[in-house]
Amino acid sequence: MPQVEGNQIMNTPFSYRPSTRLDVTSRDDLAMAEIRQRVVGLDVKVPLLDGSKRPYVNLDNAATTPALWDVLETLDLFMPWYSSIHRGKGFKSEISSEAYDDAREIVGRFFGADMSSQVVIFVKNTTEAVNKAARRIGLNKDDVVLLSLMEHHSNDLPWRAQATVVHLALRPDGSLDVDDVRVKFEQYGQRVKLLAVSGASNVTGYINPLHELAELAHSYGALIMADAAQLAPHRGIHIRPAGDPGHLDFLVASAHKMYAPFGTGVLIGPRKIFLEGAPDYSGGGTVEIVTEDAVYWAGPPDREEAGSPNVVGAVAMAAACKALTEIGMDRLAAHEADLTRYALTELHKIEGIEIYGDADPANASNRLGVIPFNLHGMSHYLVAAVLSHEYGIGVRNGCFCAHPYVLHLMDIPEPVAWSWRKQVVAGMRAHLPGLVRISFGCYNTKEEVDWLVQALHNIAAGEIAGAYEQDRASGAYSERTFHPELEQYFKL
Ligand SMILES: Cc1ncc(COP(=O)(O)O)c(C=O)c1O
Repeated sequence: MPQVEGNQIMNTPFSYRPSTRLDVTSRDDLAMAEIRQRVVGLDVKVPLLDGSKRPYVNLDNAATTPALWDVLETLDLFMPWYSSIHRGKGFKSEISSEAYDDAREIVGRFFGADMSSQVVIFVKNTTEAVNKAARRIGLNKDDVVLLSLMEHHSNDLPWRAQATVVHLALRPDGSLDVDDVRVKFEQYGQRVKLLAVSGASNVTGYINPLHELAELAHSYGALIMADAAQLAPHRGIHIRPAGDPGHLDFLVASAHKMYAPFGTGVLIGPRKIFLEGAPDYSGGGTVEIVTEDAVYWAGPPDREEAGSPNVVGAVAMAAACKALTEIGMDRLAAHEADLTRYALTELHKIEGIEIYGDADPANASNRLGVIPFNLHGMSHYLVAAVLSHEYGIGVRNGCFCAHPYVLHLMDIPEPVAWSWRKQVVAGMRAHLPGLVRISFGCYNTKEEVDWLVQALHNIAAGEIAGAYEQDRASGAYSERTFHPELEQYFKL
């Protein structure tokens, strides 16, 4: 049994899943309580400025999600068998090799990959997956890659290095202008080799019509890549068979956003592309045979997974895929839509709030529970600090690695943006425009939304207990007297 000391849980073995009594009155409550029981760390309390402690409310799931107990329990069972894979001949190596191969199958199946024509490559995260795709597709600087303006920098910068990037227009509300996709295909013709779009925005939660875009791309002879980093933990995704016009050629995702934070991501793509040429990283595991002056590359996925792979991360990702399937992606989506509808309705009641993107609660089923906002006249840095220090609520603020998109949403004129950029380059982020973002996971509740809304009502009314000061370099606010000792909570 773990030793529980106050707020601290000492030497907790992975296999310890707290079995609190489910105190529920309805079927909905029961379903929610069951989901919450699968998520690690929801019982953890954090210190507040007034000296009290309260359960942490994590509304930053778009950045990363907590782990599922299902994942930790799988690792708990796997770790005694963990060993070198593929080239090891011991019994444990055989078990580990099989677990790694099975993980590939399970993750591929989770996304509906067409295993006859596609390959599932394990990487570190979505960023690495996009970089690998950008280097391996065989682009040159004349080739055009179409990207939406809502992309995360991770699905933008890697393409700039390899090809000519053309951004697709947005509608005034920040959603993708699908008509402009056709216009750009007409304009750039055969030069367009790839359309790379996010399945869902990490800023507004807008969901893009991936299969419709895929049909369009294919009709112009181009490929499509879906950045599923945000979409994957919230909606069932199906790549579809290669012959289907709406088929997704590439898909990238991160396990740490899917309740399995163990350093793995995935790149799924056409096998034939990875049969061509040298890998972006070479070394152990990528070859059939090496002579003093020649290399015979291995087939994919081995060619693309240089060095010792993250077997534990792959097993964790597969365990998360299994757990999410068991919980039911439709069930998760319905719960998150309900929560988003409720949150938008309640947020609208806050004096001076401006919600960006689609703020209509009636559309909650068509988007993710990612809601960006500002409180009138208040710095996004300050709102985030007060939510954390006085209410124990974790949110994110700033531009969320999507600078052009946030400037578009905030309607910031270019000369103003230019002066801010100059300040940032000079080491001063204090006046950087930005937003506060809340983002739901499958386990968040209406009670947590109520706590957030109450906090925002108070903050908007100027009821801030602490004395906050801003660090001009980073822009972050901290409360003068609030210095909780982090080592009390976790120390290596
Ligand atoms: C839409 C989108 N794409 C890509 C990424 C990058 O993911 P990672 O940091 O796991 O590489 C993120 C991260 O927030 C994202 O939201």
